[in-house]
Amino acid sequence: MTDNYEVFKKQILSLTGIDLNSYKENQMKRRIDSLILRNKVSTYSDYISIIRNDRDKFEEFVTYLTINVSEFWRNPDQWDILEKQIIPNLTGLGTVKIWSAACSTGDEPYSAAMLFNKYFPFDRIHITATDLDKQVLKKAKEGIYEEKSLKGLPIGFKHKFFRNISETSLQISDEVKRCVLFKEHNLLKDPYPDNFDLIMCRNVLIYFTDDAKNHIYEGFNRALKKGGYLFLGTTEQILKPAEFGFTSVSSFFYKKV
Ligand SMILES: C[S@@+](CC[C@H](N)C(=O)[O-])C[C@H]1O[C@@H](n2cnc3c(N)ncnc32)[C@H](O)[C@@H]1O
Repeated sequence: MTDNYEVFKKQILSLTGIDLNSYKENQMKRRIDSLILRNKVSTYSDYISIIRNDRDKFEEFVTYLTINVSEFWRNPDQWDILEKQIIPNLTGLGTVKIWSAACSTGDEPYSAAMLFNKYFPFDRIHITATDLDKQVLKKAKEGIYEEKSLKGLPIGFKHKFFRNISETSLQISDEVKRCVLFKEHNLLKDPYPDNFDLIMCRNVLIYFTDDAKNHIYEGFNRALKKGGYLFLGTTEQILKPAEFGFTSVSSFFYKKV
């Protein structure tokens, strides 16, 4: 682009509430530049005028920026650890309170609901699922998925909790839906909910700067009950967990001290 990215970042903050300074700059700028070129403009200011005046283009930008790929049972080894090593410590609870932070289209919180239902009735599973992107939350609430996003899900869950609504798409059952409450939430600026037994935040921290990640680890620690667990993505381990009030209990699982 021929003009100033610093000015663009300020304009994006005021238009969307997303602070690009908290995202790793090279990666994010490359993505944005390629989207702008696809829109056949060559300056940030021309692109700003487009998204200011065209709601669809604005939403396309937010959705593109937030990189919302997801799938059910993503990284199966991690779900196995959750079931075998973490859930046994939670089964004594009356109700389990879970936060799926940066939940995208709902694949992650719904996977958690199905897994926890092996150990808890649905009315004792309370999942708060949040994301900053309104579009993905809308899709999550609809609960309709393409066959391919379920390819990793254990077959028993698929048979029990989904019904085909067309040749290629399936809808998740109301009993699973009912235990997940979707809400808009920006991890970088909104106050955090609290009192959770488990927080899952996967495949989003990789996009943030170290300062932003530290802010989020501190927030998650406060949001957990004592002894609660934090579940991160496969490439997102905390280097010094003790500095944030955690001990490492297994790969990508941390416990609040
Ligand atoms: C790659 S998806 C991860 C979805 C799911 N956790 C998984 O692992 O499959 C990343 C999600 O993070 C969300 N996101 C990005 N920045 C965020 C922020 N500051 N606050 C909340 N969500 C954010 C995006 O909208 C996107 O839906």
